[in-house]
Amino acid sequence: MVETARSLTVAVNSHPVVRVLLGSRCSVSLIVWSLVGCILMIHFYSLIHQKDREKIHIGSSHLSVTRELEEVEEENLYFPPPRGKRSPHALKRRGPRKPPSVVDEFLDESSEVHALFFPHRKSAVNPNKKGNDSMYYYPGRLWLDTEGNPIQAHGGGILFDERTETYYWYGENKDGPTYQAHRKGAARVDIIGVSCYSSKDLWEWTNEGVVLSGEETNASHDLHVSNVLERPKVIYNDVSGRYVMWMHIDDANYTKASVGVAVSDSPTGPFTYLYSFRPHGFDSRDMTIFKDDDGKAYLIYSSEDNSELHVGPLTDDYLNVTSVMRRILVAQHREAPALFKYQGTYYMITSGCTGWAPNRALAHAAESIMGPWETMGNPCIGGNKIFRSTTFFAQSTFVVPLLGLPGSFIFMADRWNPSELRDSRYMWLPLTVGGMADEPLEYNFGFPLWSRVSIYWHRRWRLPEGWRTA
Ligand SMILES: *[C@@H]1O[C@H](CO)[C@@H](O)[C@H](O)[C@H]1NC(C)=O
Ligand SMILES: *[C@@H]1O[C@H](CO)[C@@H](O)[C@H](O)[C@H]1NC(C)=O
Ligand SMILES: *[C@@H]1O[C@H](CO)[C@@H](O)[C@H](O)[C@H]1NC(C)=O
Ligand SMILES: *[C@@H]1O[C@H](CO)[C@@H](O)[C@H](O)[C@H]1NC(C)=O
Repeated sequence: MVETARSLTVAVNSHPVVRVLLGSRCSVSLIVWSLVGCILMIHFYSLIHQKDREKIHIGSSHLSVTRELEEVEEENLYFPPPRGKRSPHALKRRGPRKPPSVVDEFLDESSEVHALFFPHRKSAVNPNKKGNDSMYYYPGRLWLDTEGNPIQAHGGGILFDERTETYYWYGENKDGPTYQAHRKGAARVDIIGVSCYSSKDLWEWTNEGVVLSGEETNASHDLHVSNVLERPKVIYNDVSGRYVMWMHIDDANYTKASVGVAVSDSPTGPFTYLYSFRPHGFDSRDMTIFKDDDGKAYLIYSSEDNSELHVGPLTDDYLNVTSVMRRILVAQHREAPALFKYQGTYYMITSGCTGWAPNRALAHAAESIMGPWETMGNPCIGGNKIFRSTTFFAQSTFVVPLLGLPGSFIFMADRWNPSELRDSRYMWLPLTVGGMADEPLEYNFGFPLWSRVSIYWHRRWRLPEGWRTA
């Protein structure tokens, strides 16, 4: 842009008529800036035009198979009015004076709203009941494994293992009693360990057991039951041939704020716990890891008391971070990062920081994973206003690419139930990235053009044909 302005100035100055008419430098710069304005207008026109082209593109050919996923489904839920009587837990959390919001009611285990969002076992998604509901996701319902037990893989992530062509879902096993460590402490469950489930179709899951267990006796061990293990994620290291797990390791008061690393030769474990540390010397709470197409992997974590995110590459063996780190989304107070990549652009979904209570998701995009990252707004579509402002009463944890459907993903989120954490639900919904241009942009001048990230609400949905690796 600077180059353009300079050559324009030269052109204007060298033309005698223009020079006579204009006289002063002030007018010349006026002309230059008008021209710059024109160029910008052309640029924005091209952006709008681009949008139209995208719409046509999506509407016609390549995403017709995913049209069902992108239908906007409204939700006219009737919320029963709050009753006079409150659960003592809810009162303590909120204080007696403020009238309860829908989110307060949602968190109050004795309310009808709560029951609405945590339907009981009769409606569970059950892979052993092969009927007309087979292969359908019902976000928020109980989800059973092939043995008929509720899946225990909270704050989870999914690894597609190319060798076995199998999906592995890793997550926190929270199948223990929920309690508060002390009066002001957050609701917690003792560390049981990291569960692993396997599947070929992303719907029917076989329990592979606890692949990294809590430590019952040694109180100084990171995995001692009294500590915190959250958001385990596993990636495969092509060089060492090992499966590497990263997780958030903390004490009950969340003051340790570290990452932990474990390794295994098999996706189904057992994983050997190596150590925990503060990456780059900073506190680290919610985190995720991301393996890029070129085999390089990155750690992304909430830091500086959750006020910003940090991103940095892992070492080649994935067992440590390197010294390189960038601060991103500074002062935006985001957590629960879930990263994915599409057509060379990096995308991320994050949540706000409100403990177990749900809040609004945001989508972010970047041309380089190291940043700068830009915030694009709330990706949630459909449902209703409260649904969209609470990420459908859930919190992001992972985004699964559907390799046979470029631009389509599964958004994985947790609907936390802080009064009974083991009964927290899984919210899987389709996520799409609006198609990028087929050709390079004509009037782009280096301005990044982000595609919209959309997460569609559905009460009931299934993956379309052809979602598997093309
Ligand atoms: C599935 O089939 C049963 C029995 O035919 C029917 O009652 C039920 O409404 C069907 N469910 C759906 C979601 O179509
Ligand atoms: C307990 O755990 C700590 C930390 O991992 C370790 O250094 C120590 O050797 C363990 N003690 C026993 C008795 O295993
Ligand atoms: C956590 O904080 C509480 C209250 O401040 C304190 O009593 C307890 O010892 C702390 N626990 C740990 C593990 O730091
Ligand atoms: C990780 O790397 C840092 C700095 O390069 C080093 O100080 C530290 O010892 C390493 N940690 C492990 C467990 O190798």
